[in-house]
Amino acid sequence: MSTKTVDYARWRKLISKVQLIAAFATLLAEIVINTILYVTRSQGYSPETIVSKLLRYLLLTSLINFGAIIAGRIILSRIPENSPRQRYVLVMTIEAICIDVAYSHYQFGVTLGIFVIPLSFCILYEDFKLHNITLAVSIAGLLAAAIARGLDPVYNTDIVAETIIAFTILFVFSFFARLIINVLKENRQELLRVQKEAEKAKYVDELNKKNAELAKEKERLNDLTRESILALSNAVEFNDHYTNGHLQRVANYSKLIAEKMELSRDKITEIYYAGLLHDVGKLGINNEIINKPERLNDEEYETIKQHTPMGYKILRDMSEKTDFKDLSNGAKWHHERFDGTGYPDKLKGTEIPLIARIIAVADSYDAMTSTRSYRQSMNCDQVRQELIDGKGTQFDPEIIDIMLELLDEGKITGR
Ligand SMILES: [Fe+2]
Repeated sequence: MSTKTVDYARWRKLISKVQLIAAFATLLAEIVINTILYVTRSQGYSPETIVSKLLRYLLLTSLINFGAIIAGRIILSRIPENSPRQRYVLVMTIEAICIDVAYSHYQFGVTLGIFVIPLSFCILYEDFKLHNITLAVSIAGLLAAAIARGLDPVYNTDIVAETIIAFTILFVFSFFARLIINVLKENRQELLRVQKEAEKAKYVDELNKKNAELAKEKERLNDLTRESILALSNAVEFNDHYTNGHLQRVANYSKLIAEKMELSRDKITEIYYAGLLHDVGKLGINNEIINKPERLNDEEYETIKQHTPMGYKILRDMSEKTDFKDLSNGAKWHHERFDGTGYPDKLKGTEIPLIARIIAVADSYDAMTSTRSYRQSMNCDQVRQELIDGKGTQFDPEIIDIMLELLDEGKITGR
């Protein structure tokens, strides 16, 4: 179906008026003209014969045609506006008017001229089916007109020759109408194709622009997140006088382990950030306990253990709203032990998220290689032995193997 917008309502109103005027005008004209013709040309017939012939003619042609026009008009008014069916009724009603004129005046030239109008509508609507119907009705109309004319004693012209000429003109016009419809349809399809492609190109262009904007926005958000993470990490570092670069080192070791495990680039970045923030919960613990130079008593140890759930609370929103979904898990579970005896939740084995298992190894390694006020740092062999001893109990054995490889390769050398 053509996508062309045709103003059916406007045409309907116009044709409706023409129909009504034509119906009454032709009926009146036929009565007057035929009465004159029968009276003046039918010399020799008795007045009774003339009246009888006239009545029969009017009944057979004019009244039937008048009825057809009125019926067409009623049907047209009942079909919803802009319905595709309306075009068929509309064109067929015009045909009825044309055939009516053909019957009334027997002028093939005029008749053909009027047949051009319905066929022109087929071009307007670019409708082959409507064209075929119109052609069939036109042929029937012309034949009926020729037969009516041949039967009428008033006329004596060469009906066969005139009919042949009329049909020839009709078929030639019909052929060109088909041709024009075809060209119009093809042009429309081509136009639609071009329009579709243009729309697609525009859509792709808009999508690319939107994607670029989103990428920019994401980058800005990532920058902001990174700055926030660094600021938070610095705050922890300032608060805890004994860390002395501990967070940065844990982050670096964690990153090296993650790289060796061939994790994705995004995951490696996340693990690095989680290393920087694993002790962020210490911001919520009393400073005196954090910075106490002596070994902690049991009560103080219990208090300091609270830095894990606190860290989780601090980072939860950031984790949820950024790409770093595991950030808070690193802070919460980096003191869990592989054998399930750690804190805060006594998670076991792979129940502990990978990010926390990595940080646990990196964190312990840095603690062993750092000097604290209450103990000296261990030497390389001692550290290696501690890591090996903790395999499967404190630490994930796989991560310990990776850590040992990194030590052997000299990629991690302690302080
Ligand atoms: Fe910690």
